[in-house]
Parts: sequence; C-alpha cells; structure tokens
Amino acid sequence: MASKIILLPGDGIGPEITAPTIELLRALGTDFEYEEHLFGGASIDAHGTALTDETLAACQAADAVLLAAVGGPKWDTTDPSKPRPEQGLLGLRKGLGLYANLRPVRPLPALYDASPLKREVIEGTDLLVVRELTGGIYFGEKTRTADSASDVCAYSREEIERIARVAFKAARRKVTSVDKANVIETSRLWREVVRELHAAEFADVELEHILVDNAAMQLVSNPADFDVIVTENMFGDILSDEAATLTGSIGMLPSASLGEPGQPGLFEPVHGSAPDIAGTGAANPMAMFLSAALMLRHGLSLEAEAAAIESAVDRALAQGLRTRDLGGSAGTREATQAVLSNL
Ligand code: IPM
Ligand code: MG
Repeated sequence: MASKIILLPGDGIGPEITAPTIELLRALGTDFEYEEHLFGGASIDAHGTALTDETLAACQAADAVLLAAVGGPKWDTTDPSKPRPEQGLLGLRKGLGLYANLRPVRPLPALYDASPLKREVIEGTDLLVVRELTGGIYFGEKTRTADSASDVCAYSREEIERIARVAFKAARRKVTSVDKANVIETSRLWREVVRELHAAEFADVELEHILVDNAAMQLVSNPADFDVIVTENMFGDILSDEAATLTGSIGMLPSASLGEPGQPGLFEPVHGSAPDIAGTGAANPMAMFLSAALMLRHGLSLEAEAAAIESAVDRALAQGLRTRDLGGSAGTREATQAVLSNL
C-alpha cells in the first residue's frame, strides 16, 4: 500500500515550496498518497484555530507529515486570548509525541563563501543539533496578569533520558550536552541524567557538558569541533538558528521531528514563512527539499531516495545555483529545475 503523507503547506511561502517538493518526490518515482490540510494562519482564517482536531487525527493516522511554514503579520498578536499560527506547530509536536528534533548542519563547500563567517572557521563542520521538543519552558504552565507573567520550565528524568539516548545513538565522535547548570535547576537535573545514561550505556562515546552561553560562542568560533549537540527545547531553538549561519542561509536547513518508533514523524524546514517574499517566486525551496529527504530517510526508510535528493541539491549548488538568500538571483522555479536536472 502506498505510504500516506499529510501535507501542511501552511502560510507565506509555504505553498510555493510545497508544490515543487511534490514534483521532486514524484520525479524520484515515489508513489505516495498525499492529503493536504490547512494549517497555521490559513487554518485560523478558515476554522478559528491553527490546528483542528480533524487535521491532528489525520496526521496521527498518516505515515509521515510534511510541513512547510506557518505564521505572518496578519496573525501576529500579543493578546493571549487570540489564536496564533505557532500554536498549531506546538499542538502537532505534542499531539504526535515528537520529542526529538534533529537539525543537521552540514555546510557545503560550494556555499562556504555564502556564510558571513570565514571559510577557515566553517571548513569541516558537520554537526547535528538534537533538540528536546515537547518539554521545558515551551510547554510549562503559563500565567499572565496585566502586570506580570510567568512560564514554568520543567523536565522529568524520563524526558531527559529519552532525548539523550537519541543523541548518543546518533553520535559518531562525541556528544556535547548544552545546559545552564550553573544557574538553572532543570539544567542540573539534565546534566545528572545525561551523565548517568552515558556511564550506564554509552561510555564508548565521548561526552562533554558546556554552558549554553559558551556553546553560542563556540558554535561560531569553532563549529567543526562539534559532532552531536543535545539540548533542551528553548536552547535548541536558539542554537539551531545560530548554527544556520554556518550554512550560508537558514533557507538551507531541514529538520526532522520524531517520536516513538512506529509513530509518524514531522518533517519541516527550520526557516519560517517569509511573508515579505511570499508570492514573488523568490523563495529558496532547498530546505524543504532536504526536509523531504529526511522524511524519506527517517520516516519511510527510503535511504537511497533520500540520498538522491541530497546529492542533487549538492550538485546543483556546485554548478552555481544561488537563490537570493545565498546572494544569487535564482527563484523557486529555477532552483527546482536545477535540482530536478541533477536527480
Ligand atoms: C522552530 C520555530 C518554532 C519554535 C516556533 C515557530 C514556535 O522557531 O521550529 O524553531 O520555537 O520551536
Ligand atoms: Mg526556531
């Protein structure tokens, strides 16, 4: 039976980068069944909520979920009683139990000069950010009055252990666990649990603990030193955007969010909906292509097809393909054509 994929194009450039991604998947000879749902701002406009029960149920029953991007100025609000597109994303992560967010950062030699960082700094970088995705301050209790507000950051031993296990399994050389154990209590538990798991099951992998402020500095001064970075939800959010500068553009970074084996994963670019360029045909579709590759690899166990997309992107870039975010002039159509012709 054909694998069933839920498509969530979302907002802004989302639909424009989803269509060519399906084209690419079809060109690979795959024969998936696609079902498209409104999500984020588009769903707020139609249904008053960023994620309907029906869409969540469809995602839960699918083999994988491919999401483009959500959000835009139209739905920007600080009023806690109004729906926000991002709530859809958080609801989906929670509703599918997607606790492990994998964000690979592998700058291509062809793009070394597209990064604001020096070539010598970036050279040899090949790292993976493993971000905990369903706990911490994102999901803790929130309070708000006119004059005060609070967000609780909580982690259980079990939540830390399962994400650390993902990181140790993914490591080739070393795991860098990032926390703020000099100040924050959840970080002290984090460090303790990671240390214990390491000693009990992964003593053959090198483990280091660094504080998040130092990690932010090392990431742009010594990125090639990292292999796998494992960290809590908000630190991972911040560090993965920072790491995107290494690849020249956030328009190149894919991500995979995974839960328990057998559960559908969610695959999406790290970038947002870029409302400023939506509808102009200028969006870089490559992070979306690479997210589809992660879907093939991690969600559908189609390694050869995943690698085919990745190498087609590599080759197109090596031949000189540059979208605007990479300092060139290629639009979505040209970029798609360039990748298709290398498939
Ligand atoms: C990300 C995004 C989301 C996050 C937002 C849109 C809720 O920044 O996936 O990194 O903070 O997790
Ligand atoms: Mg983010």
